[in-house]
Amino acid sequence: HLRDLVLLCEVDSTNLELARRPAAERHACAILADGQSAGRGRRRRAWHSPPGGNLYLSVGWRFEQPPRLVAPLPLVCAVISARILESLEAPQVRIKWPNDLQIDGRKLGGILVESGVSGPSRFDVIAGIGINVRMEADRPEARAIDQPWTCLADHLVAAGEPAFRDRLAGRLLGGLLQGFGDFGETGFGPFQTDWQRFDALRGQEVRVSGDQEALTGRVLGITPQGALRVRIQTPAGGTEVREFLAGDVSVRPH
Ligand code: BTN
Repeated sequence: HLRDLVLLCEVDSTNLELARRPAAERHACAILADGQSAGRGRRRRAWHSPPGGNLYLSVGWRFEQPPRLVAPLPLVCAVISARILESLEAPQVRIKWPNDLQIDGRKLGGILVESGVSGPSRFDVIAGIGINVRMEADRPEARAIDQPWTCLADHLVAAGEPAFRDRLAGRLLGGLLQGFGDFGETGFGPFQTDWQRFDALRGQEVRVSGDQEALTGRVLGITPQGALRVRIQTPAGGTEVREFLAGDVSVRPH
């Protein structure tokens, strides 16, 4: 059940704002903002967050499990978001591993899960979700985005109405609270089935770049732990199956 919901006109970042509370008081608390002045993305990137149309949401949760069991949580957030977007009739929503939401290969939303270990069998997380609902392409914030992006209103007429964002926020919040509870009990298994339905990369040729090396290969899918499985071309001309963890690499079509 939701414990506390804070609605803000503007904040630096909903994730940061939630992190200002003591860990024990964040469980089942949520912050929604109209705009963010210092939105944060993965890999230390900025998340451009103009006010007046998009969705910026953070939810705190305490898992009574060790961190390794909670590791697929970002993928769980992506599956929950994709299910809800689909239920609101957003067309062709896909997830690009580990947790980019896309339509037509363009970025529609992203997820940033931040965490701190609070004990050997307890894990506190802050799950932040940003979704482009209505964003004008000529806004300075939109021009600053350095990758192909899209917003829901470009694909779904209803998303152009102000009430749509409220509906999306309400469903997302409900879906995340329910989904986090389910994930804590069942693990990633039931979410992996839906993942396959939304997977943007399966069967695609990709380039996987880490700190040291870049490899190319064909995506086979994900493991029950949420790692990406790729059939890699070896320098000797053969192939081998490798698994990659989300924090370690970035993936792009090849
Ligand atoms: C990414 O794709 O890089 C992740 C983007 C996550 C953005 C959301 S918006 C709400 C929450 N607050 C933040 O500062 N970031 C996340």
